[in-house]
Amino acid sequence: MSLAIGPYALAGRALLAPMAGVTDPPFRELCSQFGAALTCGEMLSADQSLWQSPKSARRSAARAQQGRTAGTALAVQLVGSDPAQLAAAARAQVAEGADIIDLNLGCPAKKVCNRLCGSALLGDEELIARIFEALVQAVAVPVTVKIRTGPDPQRRNATRIAQLAERSGIAAIAVHGRTRAERFLGEAEYHTIREVKAAVRIPVIANGDITTPAQAHAVLAATGADAVMIGRAALGAPWIFRDVNSFLDLQENAPPLLRASVTGFILQHLESLYAFYGEYTGVRMARKHLVRYSELRAESRALRAELLAAEDSASQYALAERAFASGAAAADLQ
Ligand SMILES: Cc1cc2nc3c(=O)[nH]c(=O)nc-3n(C[C@H](O)[C@H](O)[C@H](O)COP(=O)(O)O)c2cc1C
Repeated sequence: MSLAIGPYALAGRALLAPMAGVTDPPFRELCSQFGAALTCGEMLSADQSLWQSPKSARRSAARAQQGRTAGTALAVQLVGSDPAQLAAAARAQVAEGADIIDLNLGCPAKKVCNRLCGSALLGDEELIARIFEALVQAVAVPVTVKIRTGPDPQRRNATRIAQLAERSGIAAIAVHGRTRAERFLGEAEYHTIREVKAAVRIPVIANGDITTPAQAHAVLAATGADAVMIGRAALGAPWIFRDVNSFLDLQENAPPLLRASVTGFILQHLESLYAFYGEYTGVRMARKHLVRYSELRAESRALRAELLAAEDSASQYALAERAFASGAAAADLQ
């Protein structure tokens, strides 16, 4: 069963979750290459007075065009609380090339830019309804929303919010199986996501703690959701989308990637980080990915220290090339 968000028919059922500080255009491009059917940018404040900052500017649709993989829809995620401000921001992002506007109602931070937003709004259904309507009226492209299951375990209102979303013309809803109060503690639960799926006809995307292909399959089966969204498990392992797609399509594991191709992907990732951020920030952004990639290797501690010490792109790249091309056998890389 294929998933469509508005006019965009997605080529698979595994999507990349938005992660601030991680899902920049280089990482999204890599995940798309491995079969992530949709990737979403890092949250961008709806307050346009902040868009001149280098960080916000990098999150805009105009910059995201740079790392775009042909044939994939460009989703920009907005965070805010004022319906008119969000509507104006959505219009501006669509004018810059966004194909999908996603609304962040899942971020656990109390305030982003000194205003309540993200999952802090989950308790205010009346405001959420006004935001949905303002966004859907503001733009002709699909508007999607990402929520948690509710403000806290005593108030799991995800189903009512999903129904509000459907009534307002929201095109799809992603649900992280934790409440706002739970932050990232404990384990995600999928029972509420199953209830959401049963209550609406718009596509429902299940998110939270999905780390293996078999688990992705199990979550789809348990919830009836249309797709899974994977966040943290993709960091250091963007090929998880290839593995999940293979498992969902054929019920079998994909053959392990060859060491040479893993090394090639890591180096390609470094090159696109340097190109996107420039030398100074590129080297620093690359570090967090290299730390995660170094976990592929048995001697990861020593390797991590060495990779983190590199101060310029040429030495960082050369170290990575040596480190990932030598040492453990190919099977160790999976
Ligand atoms: C470092 C980090 C940054 C995140 N940033 C965002 C964000 O910008 N927008 C958002 O909706 N969710 C954000 N999230 C939440 C993820 O999208 C996702 O819902 C959560 O990590 C659970 O999925 P996972 O278990 O697959 O990681 C972030 C999560 C992490 C770990």
